[in-house]
Amino acid sequence: EKGGYDHFMMKEMMEQPKAMRDAITGRCAEAGAFFSGLHLDEEMMKHINRIQIVACGTAFHAGMVGKYYFEKFARISVEMEPASEYRYKNPIVDKNTLLIVISQSGETADTLAAIRLAKDKGAWVLAITNVVGSSIARESHDVIYTNAGPEIAVASTKAYVTQVGCMLLLASYLGQLNEKLGKKDAVRVCNGLAKTPELIEMVLDTQEKIRKFADANHEIHDLFYMGRGLDYYTCLEGSLKLKEISYIHSEAFAAGELKHGPIALIEDGTIVVAVCTQEHVFEKMLSNIKEVKARGAYVLAIVQESHEEIGSEVDEVWVIPKMDDDITPIPTVVYLQLMAYYLAVARECDVDKPKNLAKSVTVE
Ligand code: F6R
Repeated sequence: EKGGYDHFMMKEMMEQPKAMRDAITGRCAEAGAFFSGLHLDEEMMKHINRIQIVACGTAFHAGMVGKYYFEKFARISVEMEPASEYRYKNPIVDKNTLLIVISQSGETADTLAAIRLAKDKGAWVLAITNVVGSSIARESHDVIYTNAGPEIAVASTKAYVTQVGCMLLLASYLGQLNEKLGKKDAVRVCNGLAKTPELIEMVLDTQEKIRKFADANHEIHDLFYMGRGLDYYTCLEGSLKLKEISYIHSEAFAAGELKHGPIALIEDGTIVVAVCTQEHVFEKMLSNIKEVKARGAYVLAIVQESHEEIGSEVDEVWVIPKMDDDITPIPTVVYLQLMAYYLAVARECDVDKPKNLAKSVTVE
């Protein structure tokens, strides 16, 4: 049942190239992204003046990436809140609101409550979920399925990459409806996404190096992740994955926030994972790396191939191929998933069933 792997989590990480393929298939036409069967169209979009994204945990991180894409490609401002916050604060919602919810299981109690609340106030609800016929799918006006296949391990992996893929497709689709995104850029998004299965494959092929890193470092008490823009969200997801399955304390912060607090925690030998895949802030990341190095940090940088020269500034470099900056969250997160996995294995943790966690949080 685990397909020859030790854990479902490994099986599911290995399934990510196929999951991505299934998430994209049929959704990229000659003129860019489209979703057959979606009610949300040009006419409806004319009335939408507010987009809100609500989700929990890993799905919330996919939502953050989505917000970035929606603002970049459709030039719509997006409000975001964890479902547990949204449902208890009388959010501003009316019939011109589009609520986008993201949920692997389609059964998360807080997310479901957020849908009911927004529907009562007249919002149009679009769900992105992995489970056909789930409560969230049934109660939403529109559904986009991630098509990742069943996810058994508590730690979400293949669902996350497909959620990010669907957010990118949706942002591109809305951008075209809004006439903010030209055909050329819409096609570029689709072409970029089409390469992700192969890009993920390349990261999956580097596991030996990640296992070695984990074997050498599994006794650490803390791990820090920093990044800017899309990399910041990838850091948040990597940090969540790590704490869930390895029980190592970790924090992810926007690298520009370093001086505003987190730097106080950097000591000799503290490991800092610096995710630096975004070209427009690469130099800024370099400065942040120098700041933590000056305090004795051991820096592991993740960069696009074109920046391999960063090796002279840091202790270890993991590389992704050169690609469009908007695509990098997909292969990059796979590095962080594998890092969490191998650290958890080295610490002899129950990877598939971490203590205190349930796959589907159907009670508050
Ligand atoms: C992370 C994880 C949780 C879920 C969260 C939302 O690995 O599994 O953080 O992402 O409980 O669950 P869904 O997506 O089913 O609504």
